[in-house]
Amino acid sequence: MSTTAPSATHNTLESGTFLHPFTDFAEYKNQGGKTYVRGEGIFIIDHLGNRLLDGMSGLWCTNLGYSQDSIKTAITEQLDRLPFYNSFFNCTTDSTLRLADRMTEILPEAFNHVFFTNSGSEANDTNIRLVHRYFDLLDQPQKKHIIARTNGYHGSTIGSASLGGMKGMHDQMQRLPYVHHVEQPYSFPHLGAQTPEDIGQQAAQSLADKIDELGPENVAAFIAEPIQGAGGVIIPPDNYWPLIVDICQSRDVLLISDEVICGFGRTGQWWGCQTFNFEPDLITFAKAVTNGYQALGGVAVSDRIAKVVTASGGEFTHGFTYSGHPVACAAGDATVKIYQETDLLETISSTQQHVWAKALSTLSTHPIVGEVRSKGMLGAVELVRKSGSAIRIAPDAAAAVFCRNYAIQHGLMARQVGDSLILSPPLIITTDEIEQLVTGLRAALDATATAFGIAS
Ligand SMILES: Cc1ncc(COP(=O)(O)O)c(C=O)c1O
Repeated sequence: MSTTAPSATHNTLESGTFLHPFTDFAEYKNQGGKTYVRGEGIFIIDHLGNRLLDGMSGLWCTNLGYSQDSIKTAITEQLDRLPFYNSFFNCTTDSTLRLADRMTEILPEAFNHVFFTNSGSEANDTNIRLVHRYFDLLDQPQKKHIIARTNGYHGSTIGSASLGGMKGMHDQMQRLPYVHHVEQPYSFPHLGAQTPEDIGQQAAQSLADKIDELGPENVAAFIAEPIQGAGGVIIPPDNYWPLIVDICQSRDVLLISDEVICGFGRTGQWWGCQTFNFEPDLITFAKAVTNGYQALGGVAVSDRIAKVVTASGGEFTHGFTYSGHPVACAAGDATVKIYQETDLLETISSTQQHVWAKALSTLSTHPIVGEVRSKGMLGAVELVRKSGSAIRIAPDAAAAVFCRNYAIQHGLMARQVGDSLILSPPLIITTDEIEQLVTGLRAALDATATAFGIAS
């Protein structure tokens, strides 16, 4: 078999007018891509009729799959009643208010205010505006620096991409000068040389050092995902978050938990910060809030921040035409209601996350697997030349690209990040479907091993 990665090419319905996000336009012109036309349960169907188990929940969005009638009904009812009104200048809609109230029912106790946006990117831009506003109102206007992490992902506006730590994005833009990056707690590449706890300690120390270098009196906030998602499902060692909390608290630096992926049950509890047992000052959410059915994001604001920004000081000069869009909020309200009225979260935390972890872990003895990790309903499989090592199979992550493309061609939607395959299936996935996913992944690993000349 050739090691040329099988491409994901299919004939598409496209005429070539659409510019895809995060796509190499020239490569796309040559290779084409896939067009999806239907969704059923946790499956997506392309325009040729191929049916794929969606191991990525859309893009970390469709936690409840593609067939939720109550969300669809809420959207159409809202369209019938009031398809749009804005929330500027003391106005809003009843739908917007309903979701804001419902969000406070599911947020950690200290969170009683919500600011809506259309996306996670805009929500993180809003975080920047909020923390700057907060310290301005406290007469500490010099507290403007924000610290984030290498390989973090916080979105693609100039603000949120500056917060992100993605080199490929930074190479194509001019970053905000007051955003800085510190180490991520990614232990696998250091296998055998340093323990996960060493890496956790080292990454946390890099935050302390950066704050001290800038001067705590100049640093407003630290932003991080509880588990780095798009960066490769990097699950921090147990010592990491407690250290981070101490560092932020002792230096009066606000903590922003970007839960665009980790929220809504993905890590086994409502919020990733609850899974890792820390209390942030701001929480970013998006994606699964509407099960991906409508574009909606937002910032949950803790009482500490709300007390200051709602007390006085005049207008908060920030917002979007579609902040609190009534149709998106109706979708959000119906989505959260499903979580509240079913035992989904309880099932994930008591049972399904363990079923998932056990099923994925059966891949850990595969000859080209260096590590399998999971938390909640997230997972990652690191590809290596030799089991038990961190030696990669081929340059430029070619083996992982091959493996991902093989999986897609054979009915499993998975994602490749560097030399790993990452997974985030709908939370409603059944035990049989988990088996089906793992079987598909094993077949892709076998094919990859054969293609790269490694006996499987
Ligand atoms: C952690 C995190 N924050 C923010 C974003 C950006 O969200 P959006 O694409 O809705 O702007 C993402 C998107 O994947 C994300 O994973």
